[in-house]
Amino acid sequence: MLFVLLVVLIMIALMRFNLTALHEPGPTETRLANLFKHYFIYRASRHGIPPRPKDTKASIERGGSHYGLDCSVCHADDGRSQRPLGQWMYPRTSDLTNKRVQSYSDQELFWIIQNGIRYTGMPAFGDIESPDRVWDLVNYVRTLPGDSQKGDSAK
Ligand code: HEC
Repeated sequence: MLFVLLVVLIMIALMRFNLTALHEPGPTETRLANLFKHYFIYRASRHGIPPRPKDTKASIERGGSHYGLDCSVCHADDGRSQRPLGQWMYPRTSDLTNKRVQSYSDQELFWIIQNGIRYTGMPAFGDIESPDRVWDLVNYVRTLPGDSQKGDSAK
């Protein structure tokens, strides 16, 4: 009897479910997705990330121009994701300046840019950008939170 009830409940839940991307994912879904995502990214990025370029300042400059070409279309120039394209994806494009994103290690950010994030709009750049270029992007993403406060940094 309990089993039948359970099956009926699951069927009702499935009938209500649809694939709309209109609404922003709810807090529970977001929390759960972030939990799994951070774990998988942590696990995948522990080995095999190539060494970073030595000259960080030059790397940030190169990263800035590539960011404009590769990333701004979704994440916006300041990384705070106000672009319409990123705002209507499911999940929404991340704010690259927020604490959660900046709490990734450099290796984890490298992995994300190289591999993308499956089941989201975040593309993989590993086939079109060399490892050095990916490091340039990581270094540039690190400057985004300070950008709005300082205004003129890294530009
Ligand atoms: C086509 C749109 C699109 C482009 C282009 C894009 N991103 Fe993303 N990005 C996304 C979306 C959507 C997410 C949110 C994924 C999620 O919620 O897990 C994301 C998430 C991220 C994250 C954070 C992951 C997290 O846990 O929230 C980083 C870092 C990131 N992008 C960096 C970049 C960089 C650097 C570039 C350029 C090389 C770039 N993205 C280009 C759509 C895009």
